Amino acid sequence: MIPPAAAVLAAQTASAASRIALVTGANKGIGFYIALQLAMSGLFGRVILGCRDATRGEAAVSQIESHLSAMKPQSSASSTCVSFLPLTLGETQSHRALRETLEEQYGKLDVLVNNAAMAFKGADPTPHEEQCKPTLDVNFRGTVVLTEELLPLIRRGDDARIVNVASMAGRLSQIVSTDLRSKLSSPDLSMSSLQEYVDQYEKDVVDGTYRQKGWGGSNYGMSKLAVIAATRVWARDEAANGVKVNCCCPGYCDTDMTSHKGPRPPEEGAKNAVIPATMENVPTGQFFQNYEISDWLTS
Ligand SMILES: NC(=O)c1ccc[n+]([C@@H]2O[C@H](COP(=O)([O-])OP(=O)(O)OC[C@H]3O[C@@H](n4cnc5c(N)ncnc54)[C@H](OP(=O)(O)O)[C@@H]3O)[C@@H](O)[C@H]2O)c1
Repeated sequence: MIPPAAAVLAAQTASAASRIALVTGANKGIGFYIALQLAMSGLFGRVILGCRDATRGEAAVSQIESHLSAMKPQSSASSTCVSFLPLTLGETQSHRALRETLEEQYGKLDVLVNNAAMAFKGADPTPHEEQCKPTLDVNFRGTVVLTEELLPLIRRGDDARIVNVASMAGRLSQIVSTDLRSKLSSPDLSMSSLQEYVDQYEKDVVDGTYRQKGWGGSNYGMSKLAVIAATRVWARDEAANGVKVNCCCPGYCDTDMTSHKGPRPPEEGAKNAVIPATMENVPTGQFFQNYEISDWLTS
């Protein structure tokens, strides 16, 4: 287990003041605590909350600022600025506007935490096949398109990192077909092939053949599996650019997404993203859960 306290004590270089982190879906739940913990770490000059609702985003910024001012003046986090920028994940125009603002104001991004996601409630009457596209569009396709949009800025980052908040629901073993499982976990997988597999899954869900083709039974699970597979693709492809890419499961947390049924406090769940975002000598292409690296291939 990686002690969270040690993890957030990565070397505090003089460059900390110029480092910028962006957390998507940070106005509540786990994302809020990821942003708070990054701001309190003293490792960033600015932490940006990417949220789709300005009122909720600004309220979260104020809450984080209150925590930071309670730490003053002893802490190095006292000089961290926290701000909100609009982001609707899955809307290309919104991704582009965010990239343009970041480019104009900072010219780079050091850490991106892809936390925003959605899940239909178990009791939602929307048929399974109609839940498929919206789930994949936000959780997987939105995350991929936003990340690709921001990658040119991240490549200019200092100790650049991406952390994708996935889930144990994205475990590889949900895929029944050994052929599909080995394709999705292949070290040679490309992003375009992964996107094609996800499109095929959606088509098979819509025409009702997904079970006989050997897919898993959960749209949310497939969206998170694809986020984990994308993490591995980016980790390999971005290694030469110095960008470390990891993903995590926060655990079953007490948030709106779970209708507050999860036993783990969201501030505890958040640590699973904060560790790979802040630890010294972070590896790449790994899946973190329960505060340590876990083996997704055997999950
Ligand atoms: N909670 C758990 O037990 C659990 C377990 C495993 C993984 N996870 C993952 O952890 C992450 C955070 O989950 P959570 O439990 O904190 O969920 P949550 O309480 O529902 O919060 C989700 C956040 O994402 C934002 N969001 C959703 N769709 C968005 C979109 N299209 N554009 C912009 N923002 C969007 C929400 O904004 P609004 O407030 O505007 O809706 C909110 O800020 C997710 O990736 C989730 O899949 C959670």
